[in-house]
Amino acid sequence: MKRSLAIFFLLLLAACGQRSCREAAKEYPEGKGKYLYEMHCASCHGVKGDGKGAVAQYLWPKPRDFTAGIFKFRTTRGPIPSDHDLLQTMIKGVPGSSMPGWEMLAKEEWQAILSHVKSFNPRLAQQKAPRSVDIPEEPKATDASIQAGKVLFEKAGCVACHGPQGKGDGPGAMVLKDVWGDRIAPRDLTRGPLKWGNTANDIYRTLMLGIPGTPMPNYEHTFTREQIWSLVHFIQSIQRKLPEGYDPSNPHRNLISAGRVQGEIPLDHEAEVWKKARPIPVFLKPLWYEPRATEWLSVKALQNGKEIAFYIQWEDDRMDVEGERKDGVAVQLPVDEIREPVQLPYLGMGSPGRKVNIWQWKAGSFTEFNAAGVGNLETQNLGQQNVSGKGIYENGQWHVILKRPFKSLFSHDAPILNLGWLSFALWDADLPTHRGPEAFSEWIRYELQE
Ligand code: HEC
Ligand code: HEC
Repeated sequence: MKRSLAIFFLLLLAACGQRSCREAAKEYPEGKGKYLYEMHCASCHGVKGDGKGAVAQYLWPKPRDFTAGIFKFRTTRGPIPSDHDLLQTMIKGVPGSSMPGWEMLAKEEWQAILSHVKSFNPRLAQQKAPRSVDIPEEPKATDASIQAGKVLFEKAGCVACHGPQGKGDGPGAMVLKDVWGDRIAPRDLTRGPLKWGNTANDIYRTLMLGIPGTPMPNYEHTFTREQIWSLVHFIQSIQRKLPEGYDPSNPHRNLISAGRVQGEIPLDHEAEVWKKARPIPVFLKPLWYEPRATEWLSVKALQNGKEIAFYIQWEDDRMDVEGERKDGVAVQLPVDEIREPVQLPYLGMGSPGRKVNIWQWKAGSFTEFNAAGVGNLETQNLGQQNVSGKGIYENGQWHVILKRPFKSLFSHDAPILNLGWLSFALWDADLPTHRGPEAFSEWIRYELQE
């Protein structure tokens, strides 16, 4: 016990970085890592790190229980990831799950959170992670290697779980469980980016090492290197192309830039100024994984010096505008000034000290909300609502424009800044019912162009 504490404090010391630890200690009496973890991670992973946070019941796959000491995403043999692996997951998030990435935080903030996460499990805190495995050099993908991979994919039984086309719908898919006792879905391999990296080397590593805690086997001793590469090439050949402008190695590079226009911002999405605006692909995270869920929004923004407008477009194979559940989209903005990313409100509707302002469009009507945490959502008074716009369903796509004046008389309206933050949420009524929206995005930056 003593030793683990000592190591923990050493890690904490290392985490203080340039600023003196005494200074950090004043601001965060119980440590910065604990503070940041409780602010941004605990609602899902639990204050004790056991995966039983307040919102975990609305999520699937479930947030990881850090106390169990089994980790899925690592470059090492065995279940203990390297610090670098844990940081990678925290920074990039886990596509196809609700786990958000936090690339925008500073390195020392990540180190502080990392130490706190490691403190939940003695093995993790004490044991040195084994070395990362080496990935052999990739041979060139050819038609022959793709074909060999396709044959192997069928013969080796991948199809039993991942389905004949790799869409995650094999006959065994519905009954798979993980070691934590939850149902687990084999990923639809035609959709990217994959959970633990999308490069050829990343996919090779997943096949080589398997995914601990899940039924995904490891194939290091089953196949030759050449065979594993052929599977990698086959998987890459069936993957749908990622939207143009999306760089999977840096999901946060995207910035929604609101171009300046003269006069009124048109509500017609086919207007010339909208056509000229650059679309930014926004990757969505599901609360409850559904293979058919929309994973991408395409967002454009314009401003005229007085108003800002967001044009949000997404694919939806059915229009749902009647009944209790309707299609919808929302923009969430922080109400208070954010000087550093670390001050951003909790992504899931803020928290008591850090309010958010939500502009929602749902099948024809616009509503403005304020929230200070899950279960703490208020509709603004009718007389104070100042978001307007238009939504149209056309050829399997929703086109929704939301706009609001920069200046608002109401203190609970988010200020529009030259450089600000926002995130999105999406409702898709033809998916099975779960609580909350179907998907949400991470915090993204927007800017007003001169
Ligand atoms: C909205 C819920 C949510 C929040 C907030 C969240 N996580 Fe997660 N996290 C998840 C889910 C769900 C998974 C499991 C994903 C999977 O297995 O596909 C996960 C997985 C992880 C993993 C991967 C563990 C492994 O098996 O390799 C790490 C590490 C992690 N989270 C750390 C964090 C940290 C640190 C924070 C805060 C900065 C955080 N998470 C915030 C939901 C969340
Ligand atoms: C017994 C069922 C099963 C078999 C057989 C199986 N898989 Fe998987 N596979 C899974 C599950 C479940 C996951 C998802 C784990 C998760 O999300 O954490 C997965 C994940 C993966 C991933 C990673 C997806 C991501 O998002 O990172 C790849 C790649 C993959 N499998 C390829 C294969 C290939 C190729 C084969 C055959 C050589 C195969 N699998 C055999 C169940 C299986």
